[in-house]
Order: sequence, then C-alpha cells, then structure tokens
Amino acid sequence: MCGIVGYIGHRPCINIIFDGLKKLEYRGYDSAGIAVLHQGEILVSKESGKIDNLKPSIAKLPQDARVGIGHTRWATHGLPTKENAHPHEAEHLTLIHNGIIENYKELKQELLNKGIKFRSETDTEVVAHLVAEELKVTPKPIAALQNVIKRLEGAFSLAFIVDRIPDEIFVAKQGSPLVVGLGQGETFFGSDITAFVNFTQKAVFLQDGDIAQISAEGLKLWDKNGNTLPTKITHVQWSPGSADKQGFKHYMLKEIHEQPRVVSATTQAFVKGNSLDLAALGLEKIDFKKIKTLHIVACGTAYYAGMTAKYFIEPLLGISVNVELASEFRYRDPFLMPDGQTMVMAISQSGETADTLACVKHAKDKGCQIFSICNVNYSSIVRESDSALMMLAGPEIGVASTKAFTSQVLCAYLWTLGVAQKLGRISQDELSSIITELKTLPLYLDQALNAEEYIVDLASKLYAYPNFLFIGRGMSSIIALEGALKLKEISYIHAEGYAAGELKHGPIALVDKQIPIVAILPHDHYFEKTLSNVEEICAREGQVYGLGDEKDARLKEICVQVIPCPQMKNPVFQAILSTVGVQFLAYHIAVKRGTDVDQPRNLAKSVTVE
Ligand code: F6R
Repeated sequence: MCGIVGYIGHRPCINIIFDGLKKLEYRGYDSAGIAVLHQGEILVSKESGKIDNLKPSIAKLPQDARVGIGHTRWATHGLPTKENAHPHEAEHLTLIHNGIIENYKELKQELLNKGIKFRSETDTEVVAHLVAEELKVTPKPIAALQNVIKRLEGAFSLAFIVDRIPDEIFVAKQGSPLVVGLGQGETFFGSDITAFVNFTQKAVFLQDGDIAQISAEGLKLWDKNGNTLPTKITHVQWSPGSADKQGFKHYMLKEIHEQPRVVSATTQAFVKGNSLDLAALGLEKIDFKKIKTLHIVACGTAYYAGMTAKYFIEPLLGISVNVELASEFRYRDPFLMPDGQTMVMAISQSGETADTLACVKHAKDKGCQIFSICNVNYSSIVRESDSALMMLAGPEIGVASTKAFTSQVLCAYLWTLGVAQKLGRISQDELSSIITELKTLPLYLDQALNAEEYIVDLASKLYAYPNFLFIGRGMSSIIALEGALKLKEISYIHAEGYAAGELKHGPIALVDKQIPIVAILPHDHYFEKTLSNVEEICAREGQVYGLGDEKDARLKEICVQVIPCPQMKNPVFQAILSTVGVQFLAYHIAVKRGTDVDQPRNLAKSVTVE
C-alpha cells in the first residue's frame, strides 16, 4: 500500500531516491519522505501530499549524502499528515515501512508504559521504537531486528538506518514485497523493481522471513532463525525506460496505447506455429483429470477479467465456473473439494492484492489446485500458486488498470485453449483459425486506438453529466461493468454497468435525457437483442451512444452517435477491442474534468490491505 526505496553507494543518493519514489507513486501518494545518513547524522525531510511536495525540503538536505531511504504513503493508521509520514525516527535510527502491523496497539502500550513518547499515530513508529529499545540490549542491528520481527504480527517490509553505522542499511520482509538491486559499487532496494530498473537489472527478490544487511558491495541475507542464506540473483527483463511515460500525458494513456504491443508479446510467448506452448502456459503442473469445480477469485478489474473468462471457459472446457470477488470468497467458507478436485484460479495484476492472496492461501490449505494469472513475477500470489501464467503487460503504473485487463483476458483465453488442446476438446482446425485471427488482433487494436480523436470530441460533450449507464450483452455486459468502473474511478462520475437484458427489471427507471447511455454493440449473436433494448431506451427519450461498427446503418439511425470500434469474428478479441473504447471515454472525460488521472483520490494501485 506504500512504496519504499533505498540506496547506498558511490553516487549522491537524494535524486535517485526521489526518482525511485516517483516510480512507486502508484502504490500510495498521500505523503512522502526521505532520510539520509551524512557524517554520522540522520536528516529527514517529509511532507503531506504528493511526492513533488518534497522538492523544497530535500533541496536543504546535504546533497552529497550517499546513503538514504525513502517512502511514499497510502494512509492506513492515522491521517495523511506530515507527522504520520515516514520515515519515523526513534533515538539513533530512522525507519520506513510498507504493510500493516496488526498487533501494534498492544506493542505501543508496552512502549508507552516504559515512558516512550510518540510523535505520530502510525503502527510504523511502534516498530522504530521497538528496534531502538532492542538496540540498547542487542547492539548488532541484525540481531535486534530478528528479535523485533518475532514480535510483529501482520505484513510488512521495512528498512532502517542507524546514525553510528554509515555504510549499511537493514531491511526485513514479511508478506509485503521487497527487492534489492545490485549495481557496481552501489545497491538499491524498493517495493518493486521499477524503483531502480533504470540503474540495474540484477535483482534479488527477498522471501518472507528474510532479513538483509545492505551495503554498497551488495547484501548479506539471513532467514528468520538467523541462518545465513545464499543470494539468488535474477536478471529482470523489464528494460530501463519501460516504466516512464514516454511522451504521453499520463501513464494511463501510455498504457492504453501499449495494448497492441502487449497482445503481440503475449502471442509470441504462448503461441508456437499453429498451436499453443503448453509448458509456457503453466499447464504441466496441473492435473486436469481431477478437476470437478473451478473458482476464479479476483478484485476490481481483474474480477471483470475473470467474469469475461467464464464466458469462454465453460463452453470450451465443459466445466462450471464460479467467479467470485476475493473479498467475499475469503470469508464465506466456500465449498471446496479436497485432493485437487477444486481448482482456484487467481487473477491479479500486482500479485499482491491481500484479498486475492488470502483466498489462494485458504484454498491451498483445503487441498485445492492453485493456478494464477499475474503480471508481477515473484509476487506473493505467484509464489503461493502451484503454477502461474505470467502476463507480459510490463509495468502498469496508472492506478486504473487498462493493458492489464486486456492481458488478463487474453492470457485466460490462451490458457483455456491450451487446456482444451491438451484434453482434445478442440480440433486443430478450430485452434488454427483462432490463432490466425489472434495474429491480426494487434492490427485491429491499432484501428481501435485510431478512434481516440473522435472520443476526445465526444468526451468534451459528455463530461459534465453526473451519471452514466453502460450496457451490453454476453461478454459486452462485462465490458459495460468495466467501462462504468473506469469512469467512476478516474472521473468521479457515478456510473453503472448493466447486462442490457436486465434494464427492464429496474434500471430502465433511470432513463431520461439526462443520463448518457453507452451501449456496447458489436456484431455478435447478441446484436439484435441488444438493439431491441436500445430501442426500448430510445422510446423513453434516452440518449444512446453505441460502441460498434460505424458503418452499420441501423446503429447510426438509432444512436445519438456511434463510437467507432473495429469488428472481429472472435468474441474474446471483440471484447478486447470494445474495452479500448470505454477506456478512452473514461480517460478523456477525466482529463476534461481535470482530475488526477494516474492517481485518483482515495485509491492505490496495489491493495495489500483487506
Ligand atoms: C481498477 C483497478 C482495480 C484492480 C484491483 C485488483 O482499474 O485497477 O480494480 O483491478 O485492485 O488489483 P490486482 O489485479 O493487482 O489484484
């Protein structure tokens, strides 16, 4: 929920840490801070609000400092004030933390009883004081850290510096992500690799329970029992610059435009000639013959990707699929069959979403087979899964998920086709024709992106309306839900998504001239039915904007305007094309309304709390 960064090495560290925080701003952005260690003194600069607010105060820090830590916060305990911003100081040390310490109240009481004064309302300051107290009896920071960590309940990654130790930073990980980057005579760390990937692609992903001592030469690693561990170096494939805006006004816009590339990369990774690479799709570790029920668990946009997947998994695999919000599934004692008869598929861009992760752990304890579709390698959900399909969306920084949705739907589809291929449920001819069409999807996506100018114009007509309705049938009903979610999260306009056939069971009462209705109307076998729903709306003076084939005379006649969307035969590919239209509409309406598109209020990219 927060982002942490650190640097130790031969270069001045302030700008490196500041830039790292900017890369992690998607994780939280309601306050931020940096601490540097310079000539035996720790100097801290912190501010509420955006990371940029730090600029004046970090200019006053010693610019030649070469050791430092930084934090960008998404408030959980205490308001997003300057006092509650990290780093937190306690005696001779300064500490940053991402995650939640669940038992912080009782630990705080214990410290208060000892007469310790607190400057903030955070759980983090409790950890800082615990370490400071421990250092009085156990002067070696690693040993002190080990003792403190044994007492902490919850999920955290944390780091601290001590004023008398100029050449080391101490870190620990339990439940929240932490990765160390190894350079030449310099070492970095961050909540994810985007924090330092512009400097080094050599990374060490810490595991839960790991504790490390970081110096300019690299790191020493211990497990929670104090045993030394070997460092396993991974050469990450994200290239320098892949997390930058590359000339686009917002990350969200850049990420919408990246979708053709994501589809091409996904196709290249999983398609071999006219069939699918079953090993790359993560199929080899799954025992399909055993599976009797399949649950998909996810949150938000990833949940909508799961709902879209239900439309193709059931007919292709002949198995009933339950798609459930992870926040509900985890608490409702779902019926799960033992011995791998139930498979749980987790879909998550970040691989760190707390509710989805909790479902995975619960299902694993109950003996289910666990498969995940994630964008972040080595993330907690990937590590908990029996097998995983790694998406190739690249870093998604905009808080509103766009290219990850496309990637999730496509990966779930290729996985399903792979299973169908393995079980002999699809003929080679059918598979070949789907793959042939898939190879043209990036070209059609380019055409869908060409509609942007048209949508900018439409957005300038619609942006002031306070309510919107999105409708569709089949997979388009899910794209309607996704369109409504996109619009509300970045423009703060109230929007609802509905299956068009449901309108007359209630929501049609909302229809009047004051509510723009976006109907997703591809040329599929639902077309006639959806069109008659649109006619019902028009009969009640509703204004319908049809997302579909701009050349279709009936659409043109009945809709106020047709939002052009290219048409493909395959319904999954068509759903992906329609998604681009609703993404652009939400984006350009938000831009017209002047909201903070990449970092909408109250939201964070990676929801690591329940
Ligand atoms: C919406 C959005 C969220 C995420 C959800 C799950 O645009 O981004 O609804 O989809 O928080 O996140 P992941 O996929 O990381 O589990």
